[in-house]
This record gives sequence, C-alpha cells and structure tokens, in this order.
Amino acid sequence: MNKKSIQAFHRRLHRWYGAHGRKDLPWRHTADPYAIYVSEIMLQQTQVATVLERYYFPFLKRFPTLAKLAAARQDNVLAAWHGLGYYNRATNLHKAAQKIVSRDLALGIRHWGEEMSTLMPNAQSLIPNLLALPGIGRNTAHAIAAFAYRQPVAVMEANVRRVLSRIFALETPSEPELWDKAQLLLDKAEPFDYNQAMMDVGALVCRKRAPLCGQCPANSMCKGKTSPESYPALKSKKTPPVRRKSIVLLRNAEGKYYATPRKSRFLNGLYHFVEMDTPPPLKSKELGHIRQQYSHFTLEAAILLMEAEHGNKGKNWYTLAQLKKLPVSMAEKKILELL
Ligand code: ADE
Repeated sequence: MNKKSIQAFHRRLHRWYGAHGRKDLPWRHTADPYAIYVSEIMLQQTQVATVLERYYFPFLKRFPTLAKLAAARQDNVLAAWHGLGYYNRATNLHKAAQKIVSRDLALGIRHWGEEMSTLMPNAQSLIPNLLALPGIGRNTAHAIAAFAYRQPVAVMEANVRRVLSRIFALETPSEPELWDKAQLLLDKAEPFDYNQAMMDVGALVCRKRAPLCGQCPANSMCKGKTSPESYPALKSKKTPPVRRKSIVLLRNAEGKYYATPRKSRFLNGLYHFVEMDTPPPLKSKELGHIRQQYSHFTLEAAILLMEAEHGNKGKNWYTLAQLKKLPVSMAEKKILELL
C-alpha cells in the first residue's frame, strides 16, 4: 500500500464520514478532555446506545469536573455506574481522578472539566502519563490524545480491529501487527475525524455479519473483501461455566441486614451479602433463586434468609431502605427484589 493510495483512502473516508458518520454523538462535540475521558471509559465495554441513553449525561451532571469526581465517595461513583457493568472501570476512573488531582500528572490535565481544560499538556508526556493511570490502556490513551488534543495517534477499539483485519486480510493478527497497520493508515493531519470515521465504518459498514462492502470507503484497497467474514477468524466461544452458590441474608433483631463492600478485583467496592459455595445453612429460609450472567461465568444462587444470633449490631448492618441506596451489582438488585 503506497502513500498515494493511502491518501486517496483518506479522501474517501472523510467524504464518507461527512455524509454518513455518527457526527451527532455528544462526546464528538466537546473539547473537554474530562468528558472525552469519561465517554471513552464507558464505551470500552458498553454499546454506544446504552452509554448515550442512560449514563453519559447523568454521570457528567453528577460529577461535572475531574476535581469533583476525585472528591466524591467511591460509593457514589459506583452508584452512578450501576447497571453499566465492569465496575473496575468506575473504581479506576475514580482512582485516576484522585491521582491526577493530587499529583498534577501532566500540565493541563489536572483542570479537566474546568475552564482551563483545553490547555495543551506537553504532547511528549501526555500519552505516557495517561498510560500510567489505572484503567487507561493504549486505545483509551490514544483516544483521549486524538480527540481532546488532536494528536496524530490511532485509536483501535473493536470496530477498528475488524476493519483493519479485513483491509489487510489478517486472520489472526497480533496486537503489534494491528497497531502497525493502524498507525500506517492513520491520517496524521486529521486524527480526530479519521479515528471517529474508522469506528463508524466498523459499526455501520464493515459489520461483523453481512458487511456492506459496496458502500465502504476502503473498498478499492481492501484485501479481504472477497470473503470479509473470514477476517478476523472467529474465536471459538466456550460457554462460560455456571457457579452455584448460596447467598445468605443475615437479619438482626432490629430488622437490619448484613452487607459489606467487596474487596476483590471483580466488582470491587460493590456491596454484597454472605456468599457460600456449600449448601444452605439449616436454620435458613429460602426466598428464591437468581441467575446472573457475567462475562466469564453465570451465577446461579439460592437466596436464603437467616436470623442472626443476638449481639449483631453496629457496622455493616443496613435497613432495606439503606440497602437500596448502596452501590450493588445486578445480582444484588435481584436479591433485594426478593425481600
Ligand atoms: N467507542 C470508543 N470511542 C468511541 C467514539 N468516540 N465514538 C463511538 N464509539 C466509540
């Protein structure tokens, strides 16, 4: 692929984006790196429609600046994330905000979300500084650099991966190979529109199934167009294992329930009840069952109510009304509905 054909591709891509791109997405209309950062973290594992309908605006309303997010309690950040899943994203976002605010990591970013936010940080240190923050990998660092600061770096989320795999007919591309191709094709003069356009081509034209090759701005250069669905080769998907548990709601004499925040990588910070791998304790009453699908397993749990022995007072006991305000994941929401 020579320079000329890449330049011709840029022209076709920009024309296509002008006519068909999702230019009305709100994070494409802000210069605020904080809003862009929040959108990119949400979009890491959640569909555009969901982020748009229920999360992006309420989150920014609740935490309008990086400084306000840093000052918030983790419980409140997790509550604003409720239903989005992959909760480490929320705890990492919160931790990253605190790091940035306390250490002023890169000139400019400390003021994200405030008036000074568009100050250009040092371009050389921007990406390494972003990569040092929890929850920011190469794609997100590049997205922030390209969208907030017009840096000439390529973005590579799931859609772009597929587009590149097909343009270069790569069945099982390695990460370095994909990044090489991404940087090779990048329009360094227009990184904002180029990257947004590549994502849109993936989402709207170079679709996983039944791609619309006839409408694709990369058609003439695409090496995979005769059998696009062969690239990238599908990974065989194993059905995730089922984990069976008993979840015990301990209730004390005051009618309060025992719940603690998780201290684990998975669902860290979200409140949960007592979980057991073993059959239910004898003195419990069964309230029902729940089933919850996670990315790597399915939880099937019997939900049991058990009166706690006397003396269980103090910390970690909550009324039902209090429990309903704590940050919990979907499984606990379902459990609360059984009460
Ligand atoms: N996924 C990640 N970043 C995105 C963006 N800016 N627009 C649409 N989808 C995205």
